[in-house]
Amino acid sequence: MESELNNLKQKILGDLEKIKDLPALRALEIKYLGRKGELTKILRGVADLAEEEKKTAGRLANELKKEITARLEQAKIELANIRSQAYADPTLPGSEVKTGQLHPITILQNEIEDLFTSLGFMVLDGPELESDYYNFTALNIPPYHPARDMQDTFYVDLTPPAPLLKGGLRGVIPSSLLMRTQTSPMQIRAMKKYGAPLRCIVPGRCFRSEATDVRHEHTFYQLEGLMIDQGINFSHLKGVLEVLGKKLFGPDTKLRMRPKFYPFVEPGSNGEYSCFLCRGQGCRVCKNTGWLEIVGCGLVHPGVLKAGGIDPSKYQGFAFGYGLDRLAMLKYNINDIRLFHGGDLKFLKQF
Ligand code: DAH
Repeated sequence: MESELNNLKQKILGDLEKIKDLPALRALEIKYLGRKGELTKILRGVADLAEEEKKTAGRLANELKKEITARLEQAKIELANIRSQAYADPTLPGSEVKTGQLHPITILQNEIEDLFTSLGFMVLDGPELESDYYNFTALNIPPYHPARDMQDTFYVDLTPPAPLLKGGLRGVIPSSLLMRTQTSPMQIRAMKKYGAPLRCIVPGRCFRSEATDVRHEHTFYQLEGLMIDQGINFSHLKGVLEVLGKKLFGPDTKLRMRPKFYPFVEPGSNGEYSCFLCRGQGCRVCKNTGWLEIVGCGLVHPGVLKAGGIDPSKYQGFAFGYGLDRLAMLKYNINDIRLFHGGDLKFLKQF
């Protein structure tokens, strides 16, 4: 029995020396100490031995089991160390640091800001929570003007709730605060703050109570522009819009302007660029018209100049407003406006 145990010990130690990784060590453990392992079998066999042999054989077998268990444990620690040392190998290339990236609307906004700052325009920022006065009234859209219907938004009522009327209804209190529906209220704020002459653009987030679909979103971006000086006329507006069109869609882009009513400009116009995809031939992007309707614009209404504290008999101005989401959709061929605020990384990583 003793020599049998000795032989087994030599065999195990020999095997152990060849082990190079943890899975192999685990296999060796099972081979000798597992339920059907060679050493386990011997230990079980001790019970069948004659009384005088049982004692010594039992002791020796148990000692061997202890020793082998200890050696296996030791080997486990050593192999784990080798593994962690390899993991910390300083010569390996570092793991890649994942940086974020700019949102497509921000990329476009930066591009437009670059152009306008080079033309001497300031870039301004305005409040998203706006007063009814700046958002509508000062822009020639008094209460009950039908133009308000097209720009319904989220009203913020800071007054305490009105008392309950008969039948459980509350009286309607017209709120004076709302989420701005356009960046145009910044025209008034800029005129009041800086006076004339003035050149500024205002990119920013706007809100409307929209039923959302592929072309409508309750939260979206606009970019407003305003220039006020003496002797400003329609050709200045046209010149600036042309420069922007060429920058956005290429040097042979054409601009066409058609009359459109906006309460805060007179005359008001819609700026349309020749389609960058079909170059005016008609295609899916321009809905076969050859033109992309992109910008609302016009000469600033005298009433609006007055609301901004500027004398309309001395100064004139032009204004325009772009939908940044719509521009980005055209430029990057995106077919659903809701992707912009969806937070889907698969979408955002493409830019
Ligand atoms: N604020 C208008 C809108 O949201 C767009 C616009 C039209 C802005 C004409 C202007 C402008 O500055 O002159 O529909």
